[in-house]
Amino acid sequence: MVHRIEFTAHGGPEVLQYRAYAPVQPGPQQVRVRNQAIGLNFIDTYYRSGLYAPPALPSSLGTEGAGIVEAVGSAVERFQVGDRVAYATGPLGAYSELHVLPEDKLIRLPDSIGFEQAAAVLLKGLTVQYLLRQTYVLQGGETVLFHAAAGGVGSLACQWARALGVKVIGTVSSAEKADQALRLGAWATIDYSREDLVQRVLDLTEGRKCPVVYDGVGRDTWERSLDCVAPRGLLVSFGNASGAVTGVNLGVLSQKGSLYVTRPTLASYADTPEHLQAMADELFAMLESGQVQVEISQRFALRDAAEAQRALSARQTTGSTILLP
Ligand SMILES: NC(=O)c1ccc[n+]([C@@H]2O[C@H](COP(=O)([O-])OP(=O)(O)OC[C@H]3O[C@@H](n4cnc5c(N)ncnc54)[C@H](OP(=O)(O)O)[C@@H]3O)[C@@H](O)[C@H]2O)c1
Repeated sequence: MVHRIEFTAHGGPEVLQYRAYAPVQPGPQQVRVRNQAIGLNFIDTYYRSGLYAPPALPSSLGTEGAGIVEAVGSAVERFQVGDRVAYATGPLGAYSELHVLPEDKLIRLPDSIGFEQAAAVLLKGLTVQYLLRQTYVLQGGETVLFHAAAGGVGSLACQWARALGVKVIGTVSSAEKADQALRLGAWATIDYSREDLVQRVLDLTEGRKCPVVYDGVGRDTWERSLDCVAPRGLLVSFGNASGAVTGVNLGVLSQKGSLYVTRPTLASYADTPEHLQAMADELFAMLESGQVQVEISQRFALRDAAEAQRALSARQTTGSTILLP
């Protein structure tokens, strides 16, 4: 028997249960991975709470992990037993000692990337790749606003943006998080829990505002984010850490200067094995060059996943968090 995290009903972290289960054999195009490290992501809390719907209840959880191929289906072509792999876009079930997923969702790990590093960086790093290099193609020289700059995605975005020659104004909720964001490459920080966010952005940009604002906080920052976007600029609303944005009045986009808004997901950028691989190659090159480094600030045992989610939701984490089976 092996163990995984399951939940039978939506709710707070207390619904997560560490249970023994009998793993399935991989289907023809599937691979079974023995996880060595598992990534903790905010999206995991959405599936647990019910903000996002899992395919069925009871449900397993988690979409990111790294490990060793333990078994392959009869039609699998690209992987064999013993390969070092990672995944970030697979079906739910990464919070487990073993995960069975389609071959198409796997990335082969370069020797230079360890399992813990991979589990800490793949989902968040692929997200930063598409946010900075596809959703809005940063050229260098821009000043952009990135919310939750000391968080998992934010910590990587600060570094990647700096490497591109972009000035990041990062929002944070404490002095310690401000220090972290600045150390990782933010040009300036704003404590959005105390300061006037819009006024500070106006001051820092000499009234110009930002051509692009990256907002993974959602409900609590939506209005203020719109006020930080320059005319004809783009608001990238990519997450719901404070709750979902609802009831949007399109007219507000014209009032604030012909703004664009997008609500992207990693799944629709890493939508083919080729796109996934190309994005991962770029991420791995950034890691290998040292321009982006992964901060694993918290490690929890897999059985303590509820505690890990509590810390993430309570804004007590910085950088990446991993679960260890
Ligand atoms: N669309 C996509 O493809 C995609 C992919 C990956 C992640 N995401 C989104 O990106 C965001 C960051 O994900 P992550 O896993 O790296 O998490 P994270 O940034 O490590 O944690 C979330 C951070 O959001 C901030 N926050 C602001 N208001 C909050 C609230 N009411 N409750 C909790 N946190 C709040 C906190 O930073 P402060 O304390 O500094 O405010 C917190 O540390 C999430 O919204 C996630 O859903 C989207």
